[in-house]
Amino acid sequence: MTTRHRKLVAGNWKMNGLRDPSLALTGELIARATGVPPVCEVVICPPATLLANIARALDGSVIGLGGQDCHAATAGAHTGDISAEMLADAGCRYVIVGHSERRHNHGEKNALVAAKAAAALRAGLVPIICVGETLGERERGATLAVMGEQVVQSLPPPGGHCDIVVAYEPVWAIGSGRTPTAAEIAEVHRHIRACLASHLGRPQSDAVRLLYGGSVKADNARTILAVENVDGALVGGASLKVDEFWAIVGAAGS
Ligand code: PGA
Repeated sequence: MTTRHRKLVAGNWKMNGLRDPSLALTGELIARATGVPPVCEVVICPPATLLANIARALDGSVIGLGGQDCHAATAGAHTGDISAEMLADAGCRYVIVGHSERRHNHGEKNALVAAKAAAALRAGLVPIICVGETLGERERGATLAVMGEQVVQSLPPPGGHCDIVVAYEPVWAIGSGRTPTAAEIAEVHRHIRACLASHLGRPQSDAVRLLYGGSVKADNARTILAVENVDGALVGGASLKVDEFWAIVGAAGS
């Protein structure tokens, strides 16, 4: 038996968005959510420069706010970094950690991702911990082994109630328009669930929501979100287009 969660659709804006068009996009999302409140939970993760402005805009709306990364420390001499406490202070409830673009562009390894996830929990944020295999790993049949290792090593140390989200994002599916089949997604999510259960024990592992990410669009969202153990989606490119993103939100609520 798998626990059924209220689905979560999170938009990862990446390094996109200047103030005025981003506030306009946020305003349109708020209007959609006010018209027909979404059945699923909706979160947007804009660039750090926009968080304070967007937090103000979202005040009173059901749409939540998240950061795209955080430093593991609370404060200090870390030029250019942002702590989880600062994100919470800016109005965030979530933070993405370990995105494959961070892992590849900044050499972030599992241990650092785990430290960032722990920092998020310390600050009262929900970490969205990203994992995903490369094309080479998939082609040599290593997906499940790599995912098991990445998930377990990227988790914060077990203990107590921890509200965490894991996002399975195959590296080759991100921004490519290619996605695994529903059966392939189901296989990986089942495996991740089993790894979580043996690492965290139950009921903690049941509380973890498992998102799929990588080329989620309006036209494949319904199929992907119907896969067993898929508790939502982490959406990149499509989260920058109101109609596209809201169609995905609608697919999660159906
Ligand atoms: P994509 O990105 O939806 O543009 O493929 C997903 C992500 O990187 O989180």
